[in-house]
Amino acid sequence: MLSPEMNRMLTRVENGAPMGNLIGRFWIPALLSEEIAEPDCPPVRVGLLGHRLVAFRDSEGRVGLLDARCPHRSVDLFFGRNEQGGLRCVYHGWKFGVDGACVDMPSEPSTSPMKAKVRARAYPVHESGGIVWAYLGPGQAPAAPDIEFMSLPESHVYASKRLMRCNFMQALEGSLDTSHLTFLHQMNLMSKDVFGVGDFQRFSDADGAPRFFCADTPYGMSISARRDGDDDTYYWRVTQWLMPVGVLVPTAPGSVCRANFFVPIDDRNCWWYRIRYQPERPLEQEEIEEYDTGDLDYSRRVPGTYESIGNKENDYLIDRGKQRAESFTGIPSAQLQDIAVQESQGEIADRSIEHLGTSDTAIAQTRRRLINAAQALEEGRMPPEALAASQYRIRAIAITLNRTRTFDEAAALAQLPPVQGTREKMK
Ligand code: FES
Ligand SMILES: [Fe+2]
Repeated sequence: MLSPEMNRMLTRVENGAPMGNLIGRFWIPALLSEEIAEPDCPPVRVGLLGHRLVAFRDSEGRVGLLDARCPHRSVDLFFGRNEQGGLRCVYHGWKFGVDGACVDMPSEPSTSPMKAKVRARAYPVHESGGIVWAYLGPGQAPAAPDIEFMSLPESHVYASKRLMRCNFMQALEGSLDTSHLTFLHQMNLMSKDVFGVGDFQRFSDADGAPRFFCADTPYGMSISARRDGDDDTYYWRVTQWLMPVGVLVPTAPGSVCRANFFVPIDDRNCWWYRIRYQPERPLEQEEIEEYDTGDLDYSRRVPGTYESIGNKENDYLIDRGKQRAESFTGIPSAQLQDIAVQESQGEIADRSIEHLGTSDTAIAQTRRRLINAAQALEEGRMPPEALAASQYRIRAIAITLNRTRTFDEAAALAQLPPVQGTREKMK
């Protein structure tokens, strides 16, 4: 439970709100690379932390992320022409490069010094893992985080996203909340393991009340959830919270890894970025189709958008017959099940009326860390996690271990060896 005041602190990101300022100090996904696939392709709108931005790819393939308001008289640069070497406003023809510099000002005399002085506000970007990452904070951007999928070959990574019509925090909480898997995502009559996480279905069905062990880390938190396994074993799921809005979701060793980022568009909407990656080999077409682009009910989205066909208006395609006979919810996919329950908490969940139990341990700790960090930043103290670029040598794992093994040992199995040398992070 949180007081209304603390809930505001936790959830509001617009107009200089402390949590928006905090998230702005980290690199966050701004859009998918595929949204601006080609040089000089049409620009796209980007909503981020309440800011109205426009993204484009110039003739050289470089990405620009600009304030959408033209610095002349605030016309939306989304309507702009993406021409040779810059984005040209359609109102009076001012043209801007990816760095925000005005490269042409045809409505002013050629002798005017104005062109050299006027700039569009441009944000630093970094492209990796199929995602354009942005830094919206003040000053010099820190090094981008070295999350495993960010340096894998393109063929090993697939990123997509879905719109969620709710505050980012309830989406993030859902991804940290291992205990709901037993209930919300139970599809016990399905013929295959849709999660690809081995023992998950068997043990989570048998033990719906996992014990949580949370450890603060330089990048956020390592969350180990323990369920009873067979006789002398425990089934561990080690989730990684990447402060502020990222989560590595446990899968069995050797299977496809999963990462989620819940990026606030504004106070009442967020993007759920969903990344799958296989460190050992290219992803197979079948894996990508099942995940995002195939014909299965649960993969579909409204054409031309990143919105699920199942939504609030159609009750997320709930089928009451299937709910009786096949799955716990009758909602056709795990993704849609998550969206349904999290949007149903309200646009901004009222945390003053909730009752947290032991299964909510990780959620309570995450909230506390975020609120403390936002308050510290207001007092001028930088979040150290925003500078922890080299500390992401981790995975999330789901694994069965003998009962003599401790949670420290389970968490240690989720560590990757350090990389040799450094790599260029920013463009
Ligand atoms: S408003 Fe953009 S050029 Fe005038
Ligand atoms: Fe879920």
